[in-house]
Amino acid sequence: MKILLLGSGGREHALAWRLIQDDVVEHLYALPGNDAIASLDKSSLVTGDPLEIANKLQPDLIVIGPEAPMEQGVTDILEDAGFKVFAPTKFAAQLETSKAFSKDFMLKNKIPTAKYFNCDDYDEALKIVKDWDVENKGIVIKSDALAAGKGVVVTNNRNEALKTIHDFMVSNECTVSTDKIVLEEKLEGREVSAFAICDGNNFQTIGYACDYKRIFDNDDGANTGGMGGYATPSWVDDNLKKFVDEQVFQKTIDGMQDLDQPYKGILYAGLMVSSDGTVNVIEFNVRFGDPEAQILMPLIDGNLAELFLDAASGNLNENKISIKKQNSVHIVMTSQGYPSIDGTAMLLNQELNIPDDLDGHLFIAGAKKQDDKWLNTGGRVLGLTVIANDIDEAREKAYSEINKINFNGAHFRTDIAKGVSS
Ligand code: AMP
Ligand code: GLY
Repeated sequence: MKILLLGSGGREHALAWRLIQDDVVEHLYALPGNDAIASLDKSSLVTGDPLEIANKLQPDLIVIGPEAPMEQGVTDILEDAGFKVFAPTKFAAQLETSKAFSKDFMLKNKIPTAKYFNCDDYDEALKIVKDWDVENKGIVIKSDALAAGKGVVVTNNRNEALKTIHDFMVSNECTVSTDKIVLEEKLEGREVSAFAICDGNNFQTIGYACDYKRIFDNDDGANTGGMGGYATPSWVDDNLKKFVDEQVFQKTIDGMQDLDQPYKGILYAGLMVSSDGTVNVIEFNVRFGDPEAQILMPLIDGNLAELFLDAASGNLNENKISIKKQNSVHIVMTSQGYPSIDGTAMLLNQELNIPDDLDGHLFIAGAKKQDDKWLNTGGRVLGLTVIANDIDEAREKAYSEINKINFNGAHFRTDIAKGVSS
């Protein structure tokens, strides 16, 4: 099997690293990929327009990592040309790319989610907040469109909510500018993400993971793409899994079929589980998470490439993988200045010191190879995953290994998976 993989981050490195382990894979081409993917066995990088590249290479399977090409309709273009694509269409990707679509879809299909209002008028938004019985409970304001992780503000009271609505809909100074917002009831509880492979008719769950979004320990500082995470939280039990399978994944597959828009690809459900066990969907994503792919890929045994092809072909009838019973901990290393929300420059082009004998899975995101040296080129530079029988063991080893890597300005959180083992 020849695979074309779209994307260039740590998630795509993890996907490529895992897919080439399957004997059935003859070659993997990454568009544009990164230097770490280029150095994998049976792998090379390509550049250019996805359709032109696909026509030239004739891959048996195309896997799309990030959501942006899905939103741009790349899946549809490639499928129209006859290729098998493991990713949702532009329409189906709205489960992630439009918060309003996603919330309306959940309401219609009775998928549990927080109470909300969609709103495209500033004065109406103000009125909703003023009339809403949520004082002292907080309101979450979400930009309808993708906003690079900055489009969600969890406010604690009515005044904060009103200010955020002004920032999003009126102010020119705020980096998020939108005509359409979702106002949502604030939920309390523990967050976890669930992942399923879908083929339009069926799904297969492949794991649960928790990530850490803030830049500093104790969830301080700015929001990032993700600073690390772990699988599997000890409190994710069979009851929760059954509930999520039936009330979230199955209903989503059914609801998309009702719209005549079968959902295939990865479905990533961000969940909030309250102390009494109530589960709500906070959001859907239509791709693997980054770094959740780096957390989960080392736990998957079996023939993942064929499973992706089965899903892309609407033929997910046979279970071709198994999930290791072990736990996984992943720690991300970032450049100084990341996430640079105020536009401050990051310290880039620093030489990375990475020992050859690291005992773990190293995934490269924002770095390039130059004359045999690795230099950092982006915010999230790399991440290291360690799997072990026990989560504390995985955590200790992950930290002892990441401490062997360094570069000027390197930063990582020291509390990933801390205190979560029981
Ligand atoms: P989203 O982009 O929708 O995942 O939101 C980003 C983050 O905001 C989530 O991971 C939650 O931590 C938080 N969040 C979103 N919606 C809610 C909500 N209704 N209640 C509490 N926290 C939320
Ligand atoms: N780690 C969160 C995400 O990929 O959306």
